[in-house]
Amino acid sequence: MADIDDVLLRALGEGDPARRRRLLASAPSGPCASSTVARIVQALHDDTDVGIRTAAMEVFAAVGEQALPVLDGLLDDPQAGVRRLVVDVLCLMTTTPKALPLLRRAMVDQSLAVRSAALEGIARFDAAIAAPILADQLIAGVPAAVALAALLGIEQLQASVPPSSLRRWVDDPLTAGVALRLLGRAGEFGDLMPAMSSPSRLRVRAAVIGLADGLERGRRFTPGMLDATTRARLAASIGEADVDAAAAAVGVLAHAGDLGGVAAALGRNDLTRLLPAMHRAVAVAQGLGVAVEPALSAMAAVTTLPALDVVKELQDAARRRAGRGAADAPPTAPAVFSTAAYASLTAWLAREAGLAFGEDARSRLEARLMPRLEARGATTLGEYVELLQRDPDEAVTAIDAVTVHETYFFREPASLEGLRDDIGPALGAGGRPIHVWSAGCSSGEEPYTVGMILTALEREGRCRAWDVLGTDVSPASIAHARRGVYGPRSFRSRLTPNEAASFEQLADGALMPRANIRDRVRFATLNLVDTAAVSRLPLFDLIFCRNVLIYLTPAARGLVLQAFFRHLRPGGALVLGHSESLLHVENPFGIWPLKRGLAYRRGDA
Ligand SMILES: C[S@@+](CC[C@H](N)C(=O)[O-])C[C@H]1O[C@@H](n2cnc3c(N)ncnc32)[C@H](O)[C@@H]1O
Repeated sequence: MADIDDVLLRALGEGDPARRRRLLASAPSGPCASSTVARIVQALHDDTDVGIRTAAMEVFAAVGEQALPVLDGLLDDPQAGVRRLVVDVLCLMTTTPKALPLLRRAMVDQSLAVRSAALEGIARFDAAIAAPILADQLIAGVPAAVALAALLGIEQLQASVPPSSLRRWVDDPLTAGVALRLLGRAGEFGDLMPAMSSPSRLRVRAAVIGLADGLERGRRFTPGMLDATTRARLAASIGEADVDAAAAAVGVLAHAGDLGGVAAALGRNDLTRLLPAMHRAVAVAQGLGVAVEPALSAMAAVTTLPALDVVKELQDAARRRAGRGAADAPPTAPAVFSTAAYASLTAWLAREAGLAFGEDARSRLEARLMPRLEARGATTLGEYVELLQRDPDEAVTAIDAVTVHETYFFREPASLEGLRDDIGPALGAGGRPIHVWSAGCSSGEEPYTVGMILTALEREGRCRAWDVLGTDVSPASIAHARRGVYGPRSFRSRLTPNEAASFEQLADGALMPRANIRDRVRFATLNLVDTAAVSRLPLFDLIFCRNVLIYLTPAARGLVLQAFFRHLRPGGALVLGHSESLLHVENPFGIWPLKRGLAYRRGDA
């Protein structure tokens, strides 16, 4: 095996970023020679070629904690460009808490670029650590560029800070947008009103988005806060604003009992993208006792696909106003999304896939299924539910359409850290192979991530062999997973150089897990409530089932947990999503405490 210095130096001279990351991923662990560090430092100072500096930065990050004393010294370098690169290296090292004191040093650098970059790095630490540090920057006298980096970090962490620290930054053009959004999120609506009537479109946009965000979070609002001029301005801007701002404005007006936003949105040619906001607005206005029929009729007149949805809203509105039951719906309106049909749809989804949908999901389900009704020529939901019972292909398509497939690489780092530091080494002790099942894996990002972590453990000699089976009820997601080609939506967190090195870049810029990982991750379509199919699976050492149980009925959850228990070897582990817990649910598992969070274990080892 090549020694670490050899690999680092070859990576330093490698101009092709993909090949360089591949080399770095293959670097053996352990300390490197001080002469190697000196060469990297020299490359970091090379101001003739930005490529060399970038290579130096990535190689430095791969050196790990051994690099920290040298990076500390380099924070005193006379060249601001070098200090900035040092901060970039530290940003790539936020998995080690020891990088934090260095970033804090960089926060007081004389160069604004270095200070801002340091704050960006700090925002990648846990909110509990990072938010107070960022909030401390929002004091008088701090340059606006630095305050901007702190505010953006706070927004990204979804942290809260005292409104007084935000107000200070509302008047500066650089920081106004994010300060207004954060004030809105905190429910400080009074602070947003002056911005609503500002001549600056950016200010209006930030205030509207902040207000909508605060309203979504249930902050206290009185319709009187919006005067007639502001309402008119909002309605007028809906025709021109970008879709996010327009959707926010439609919602804000509705909270003031005004459906003018819905009317204003009707003229847009991207109307379908605004329909969810328009439906929510109708529901909000209805809740406030506003007559919604004119807005609904106007929507029905200009929309084709969602027309059925609109008809249902009309029926519901008429029924509610008349205070009568479903049987009294206006005779002219076709009985399309009746309460009874919705009930048989949700019962069918619970039976077929264990999925739980309440009344609150009604408009979401209709929006997702309406294209299917159209495609299959069903004029009522009841007709469509009948079709579902006799057409297995349509059944698969419908389940696929109503399930949430949200996922991305290296999602929920706490449980991944648990896998790397604790569960993986424990399961792999003594050279035992680790067989993993990623249940409800969507398009494959989770099983590939697990494979990448196990590959790193393998390289460090902490696990000998592994394989992963990814399963999902959605054949389309499984086909995507098998293809293994991913665009930006699959990458929401910045990858460390080692993580990035687990991918190869395709000609069009898309990324694909490397063959050594792809070869050991298999996929299969599987419905978790199909007990016969599940019983054919082998035993596993580890089951990942994150962000799936939350969508299931209590009965299906119980069934699935029993199946997981049966398919785990004694001593094996179960990892759930970070918002899912078995602490209040009767279950056969023991607790496996992790540094951050917990996993479950089949305790009869
Ligand atoms: C939100 S994704 C979670 C993806 C991944 N585990 C993660 O945390 O990033 C939920 C996945 O569960 C799948 N799912 C829902 N019900 C299922 C069932 N009954 N059987 C198998 N998969 C199911 C959905 O198709 C969807 O792809």
